[in-house]
Amino acid sequence: MEKQRIDKILSSQNIAARSETKSLIRKGLITVNGVIVKKPDEKFDPVNSNIIVDGVRVNFKKNLYIMMNKPSGVLSASRDTRIPTVIDLLPYELKRSGLFPAGRLDKDTEGFILITDDGELAHKMLSPKSHVYKLYQAVCDRKLTHDDVILFSRGIRCGEIDFLPAEMKIIDTNTALVEICEGKFHQVKKMFHAVGAEVVKLKRLRIGEVNLDSSLLPGECRELSETEIKDIMSRKHGL
Ligand code: URA
Repeated sequence: MEKQRIDKILSSQNIAARSETKSLIRKGLITVNGVIVKKPDEKFDPVNSNIIVDGVRVNFKKNLYIMMNKPSGVLSASRDTRIPTVIDLLPYELKRSGLFPAGRLDKDTEGFILITDDGELAHKMLSPKSHVYKLYQAVCDRKLTHDDVILFSRGIRCGEIDFLPAEMKIIDTNTALVEICEGKFHQVKKMFHAVGAEVVKLKRLRIGEVNLDSSLLPGECRELSETEIKDIMSRKHGL
């Protein structure tokens, strides 16, 4: 990787602000490949250098990819003056500048939201052209029927908007799984509304081939593995 200033490397990893790096350098507490760093503008390859700060090795990550189980009542936005956002819920060790939720879940929707600072991956994942399927579980205010399944499979018109055919599977009287790859505003709620059912609870269970980790309680998160980062872009689908 291209060389970067040591103060930039440490601030990008949320290890030390630039002013703190100066102080750590003055105290001789930063070494790179065994040599004490003397100035904040010294440049190193962040991936291939052994950077130690106050005895702890820096595990440099160019980007973060975080799976969060979004609770209801929280905004999938970076910042809001009144309502907590998914970024506010990140634990200290995963907080760093540039993170944003890749895509939107409504305030009352729960489940899998990807938080990253990789704009390129987010853009690709959200593009309808990529055909990345997202799986939702919807609880409705009425019994769902085979007719609803057929209507979903034919594609749905809601006002001026056309939604592509979607696979729907009834898993309990009022509850269904639905898979979509478009991500239009309030899409799942609007599709059910168009067939005369209102969604009373919505949860996203999967993006691409990556399932929401069932051990994550609402509001909890963890980093994705290397395999999951690839699998999130998968076009495979099927309930
Ligand atoms: N569809 C919706 O209606 N709401 C969401 O939050 C996600 C998909």
